[in-house]
Amino acid sequence: MSSFAPLGSGHAPGKIIFFGEHAVVYGRPAIAVPLPQMLARAIVYRDQHCLIEATDLNRTINVAAADHDDPFACSARLVCSELGEPLPPWRIVVHSDIPIASGLGSGAAITAAIIRAMLHAFGATLSLMRLSELVYEVEKLHHGTPSGIDNTVVVYGQPLWFVRGQPPEPFNVGAPLHLLIADTGVSSPTRVTVATVRKGWQADRTAYETVFSSIGELVHSARREIETGNTLALGRLMDENQKALAELDVSSSELERLVTAARSSGALGAKLSGGGRGGNMIALVEHPDRASVAKALTKAGAKAVLATTLHAKD
Ligand code: MEV
Repeated sequence: MSSFAPLGSGHAPGKIIFFGEHAVVYGRPAIAVPLPQMLARAIVYRDQHCLIEATDLNRTINVAAADHDDPFACSARLVCSELGEPLPPWRIVVHSDIPIASGLGSGAAITAAIIRAMLHAFGATLSLMRLSELVYEVEKLHHGTPSGIDNTVVVYGQPLWFVRGQPPEPFNVGAPLHLLIADTGVSSPTRVTVATVRKGWQADRTAYETVFSSIGELVHSARREIETGNTLALGRLMDENQKALAELDVSSSELERLVTAARSSGALGAKLSGGGRGGNMIALVEHPDRASVAKALTKAGAKAVLATTLHAKD
């Protein structure tokens, strides 16, 4: 039984990849944005053993007894080894609003929330960079060969320009950008799509590198258009990015249907976001068109539609 008073708590947001998924694994830049409407949260209570209670999964993990590659247990063990502490007698209760396997960064956000809650309970702090590195260790269990973009954006909690192996760069947003995020309802683990792209790349490196480079170039253009607030050009770049992702074979009929519905109901551009083959797509809209595009997405089969805005800095 856990005692009632919490010893610590932590949270982290979901995320969307605005531009550059998959190519970012191969060294090209990408742009990612946090999604503060969706959070993973962890709360620490006193208990007799070190336990992680994943309420959404109906699972309680005994950290001392869990497999080496259990992502929940690994999160707790990493904090203890970072701080030189033994496993504490705590129950860490985790809850997340972020759908799993939908490209919205649920794995990274849950890990970041657990680590933050434990640090809080230990009375310790880490730099954002170190925290992100710890989350990355667990991401490797989820994703095999992650670029590091998911852990970075959920830990920093701001729109970021990201290149693998380099410190992330925040950037300016020249004009508010209104995005709709629509869920295909098809579960698609990132590990699988990343492995699919790797297989394709191994079979034909020249063709894949050409697509990655063209994505890299359009991500550079997208950053300029975000900074200057040129939404029309940005929409066109989203469409180009979607085309390139389809060439990498990570789109799907459900995603294409939502992308087409968004564009034909007035979106400035639309693309899948994250690993693809399912999960979520994003559409850039003018503010007055938000409701009609959202309606078209629902009509085309979206299981949920969420609106978010990237605000310009004053
Ligand atoms: C997943 O959000 C983004 C991918 O590019 C994988 C990665 O960067 O690790 C598909």
